[in-house]
Amino acid sequence: MRSGVKFSLLKIGARGKFFSGAWLFSFFCLLFTILAMSSSGFCSPGARVSGTQSAEPAAELVSLPPPRYDSQFSVEKALKTRQSVREYRDSPLTLAEVSQILWAAQGFTRERKEPPSRWNPKYEWQGGLRTAPSAGALYPLEIYFLAGKVDGLPGGLYKYWPRQHALKKVTDADKRKELCQAALNQPQVEKAPAVIVMAAVYERTSYKYGERAERYVHMEAGSIAENIYLQATALGLGTVFIGAFSDPDVKKVLALPADEFPLVIMPLGQRPAPLEKK
Ligand SMILES: Cc1cc2nc3c(=O)[nH]c(=O)nc-3n(C[C@H](O)[C@H](O)[C@H](O)COP(=O)(O)O)c2cc1C
Repeated sequence: MRSGVKFSLLKIGARGKFFSGAWLFSFFCLLFTILAMSSSGFCSPGARVSGTQSAEPAAELVSLPPPRYDSQFSVEKALKTRQSVREYRDSPLTLAEVSQILWAAQGFTRERKEPPSRWNPKYEWQGGLRTAPSAGALYPLEIYFLAGKVDGLPGGLYKYWPRQHALKKVTDADKRKELCQAALNQPQVEKAPAVIVMAAVYERTSYKYGERAERYVHMEAGSIAENIYLQATALGLGTVFIGAFSDPDVKKVLALPADEFPLVIMPLGQRPAPLEKK
């Protein structure tokens, strides 16, 4: 195909027009290369997002403060004191807390330039390994963040983009009340200053693993949830794993894309009482 194009250009360019034909061909090759490089994120990896949806400009992203990778709160203490918390203080979350929780959920830990083997070409590779393990490093879970009361973050539904460690707004609407109804009226969903929803893109994992994908995706949701629990505990926040909800209702409330399915809801807020000093 490409040689056919070259051939006809050379034919047109025979004799005096040869150079203009060749130049035209080179120009299109260069244009094609530039477009291909920019669409793969090669030119400016931080300037675009990828995932289930198409690429979005950086201007639409809300950058989160960088997460910290150390603290005085040991992992042992977080494991010992982790518990499900269903009541929260009325105070807002800070952007630093949101940043830390989302990083713990699905943040990047290491760069990885090439997509893993048997990557479903329907999706764009984001280019990194993350805080939670994933079968084949295929990362089938999308993290939504429903902000009700967060300092410095307008209310609404956002999606987390690990590559940029940023949030992209999906809608301005505060969906907590509707989400609470979809979660069998569990009051913690409406009362929490923020709610995390994990949505599974099974096709990313089934492309490689076939029928075993479903169990892999569910196992991964558990890992991510535990990361969120432990990080919340270390920050003095509370959360609870919510599995009881109507799948179609949650999908509808959040207007999830056709290939995303809700798996876990986790309200998030300040614990009513600080952890005891041990
Ligand atoms: C798969 C799963 C589904 C759950 N669903 C709900 C739920 O819908 N509502 C709720 O309040 N807690 C839910 N939980 C939280 C459990 O009730 C809680 O983990 C359990 O009571 C143990 O308490 P702990 O987490 O404080 O140790 C769920 C936990 C898991 C692992």
